[in-house]
Amino acid sequence: MTVTSPHPVSKRYRDPELTVLSRTNATIELQLAHRSVRAFLDAPVGDDELTAIVAAAQSASTSSNLQAWSVVAVRDAARRNRLAKLAGDQDFIRRAPLFLVWLADLGRAARLAAAQQAPLDATQYLESTILGFVDASLAAQNAVIAAESLGLGAVFVGAIRNAPDRVAAELHLPDRVFATFGLAVGVPDPTESAGVKPRLPQRAVLHHEVYDDGGDAVIGDYDARLAEYNAEHARTTGWITPVLQRLGNRGSLKGRHLLREHLTRQGLPSQ
Ligand SMILES: Cc1cc2nc3c(=O)[nH]c(=O)nc-3n(C[C@H](O)[C@H](O)[C@H](O)COP(=O)(O)O)c2cc1C
Repeated sequence: MTVTSPHPVSKRYRDPELTVLSRTNATIELQLAHRSVRAFLDAPVGDDELTAIVAAAQSASTSSNLQAWSVVAVRDAARRNRLAKLAGDQDFIRRAPLFLVWLADLGRAARLAAAQQAPLDATQYLESTILGFVDASLAAQNAVIAAESLGLGAVFVGAIRNAPDRVAAELHLPDRVFATFGLAVGVPDPTESAGVKPRLPQRAVLHHEVYDDGGDAVIGDYDARLAEYNAEHARTTGWITPVLQRLGNRGSLKGRHLLREHLTRQGLPSQ
């Protein structure tokens, strides 16, 4: 008798209604297998790997080909330690051999305009700031997939926005450059208790033609599936309680409620 392993989509959802994909391939299955990695072996990420990861990142689409992002590769242990302290004291930032800080970067265009004494009025508006965030995000997610395809693991670090002035000083960020998030990268420690974290059923997120909040009806099922996953990893919550806690008050923003002021100081105003 042939034993076939379950399709990776069944781990992604734990949804009895979606256990197999009739169209799939190696790229999709790599994406379905994603998990954030927060425990790393004491092993380096080489320059060849970094070059490949950044090439994949630069292959992402970019608004008007502005390429309004940059990335700082931090390997120095003392600097990683300082960044870890600024980003919620998350120890995996110290343990990952490579910490990539993804930047929304309107600075390159600003320097170009200054050199040519050209106006740059459009960068005064929120749209240009969002463009930088979007470009940086698309590039970084390509980088994650590339890293995973090389057998590496990664986790994003939004907490890099907790103390943006100090992060900007640490990384010598010039005017109009903003540290959007970090990405800790390394060789996964296989003993870490983590797996493929189930996501909301597609009915909750996929709307046909127009938005339909009827998909909210499946959230209760999802809460139970995530609670089951969390219990396997010694955690006790489902989905609903932490979502409401995270969004319930500004304390959970850990200082990020002041970002508008930082962005204005950094030359990225939000008119
Ligand atoms: C922009 C962004 C910021 C994040 N920041 C953090 C962080 O500061 N610390 C952390 O442990 N995980 C962080 N994460 C990871 C998420 O918690 C994780 O992606 C989510 O729980 C889903 O789990 P999975 O990636 O294993 O599927 C972040 C993810 C994103 C996309």
